[in-house]
Amino acid sequence: MANGTAQSSITLRTDTWWVLPLVTAIVLATFGAYSTWRAFANVDFLVQPYLSPFYSPYILASWWPFSPALLILWAPLGFRATCYYYRKAYYRSFFMAPPGCAVKPMAKAGNYEGETKFPFIIQNIHRYFFYAAAVVLFFLWVDAFHALWFEDGFGIGVGTIVLFVNVILLSMYSLSCHSFRHLVGGRFDVFSKCPTRFRLWEKVSKWNENHAMWAWLSLFSVALADLYIFLLAKGVITDLRII
Ligand code: FES
Repeated sequence: MANGTAQSSITLRTDTWWVLPLVTAIVLATFGAYSTWRAFANVDFLVQPYLSPFYSPYILASWWPFSPALLILWAPLGFRATCYYYRKAYYRSFFMAPPGCAVKPMAKAGNYEGETKFPFIIQNIHRYFFYAAAVVLFFLWVDAFHALWFEDGFGIGVGTIVLFVNVILLSMYSLSCHSFRHLVGGRFDVFSKCPTRFRLWEKVSKWNENHAMWAWLSLFSVALADLYIFLLAKGVITDLRII
């Protein structure tokens, strides 16, 4: 009864609207904690021929005394943090502004400024994070192909498949990005003048419809790929060689 009273004060909805923002908050917080720990750890990220995606490209700089992951992770993390889909997800889950459709926002009425002022106006640099993350993505493809070459020559291990699945999912996440869609066809008024770009724009628009799915799948895959290599490095599991 008490719950019903509290709920009715913020919404008239009677469904379980709070489940999605709650699960989102738990998953994002878990990923944030795990990736922060792994980025600072600076160990157990390389088991030949596999390199953790958190440390790719692997930059060994004598002038940098901290974990090399910190030199590159700003790009993919900035890309995700400013992603249009994730913005909606964490505005609902963490800021509760609002936590769901037809649910009262937690912020005081009149205080909402959206993304018109600092710090959230910074979200507009998403397209530049796209460019930076694309560079990192290129190196992840290089790493996936590198994972085909073992000490005794060509081969495929479970780790090879893990890295390929991860980079494919990350590529779909990037290729379905709203900024990429704009890059492909955003400035055209007359598509018939450039049919190739029109066809590409149609394809990207189709991928874009499932952007949320690619966002979640690639988030899980990048964490699991790192975890797989961490467990290999720790000797908890051994890599199964398929070929
Ligand atoms: S909108 Fe999600 S990555 Fe660009």
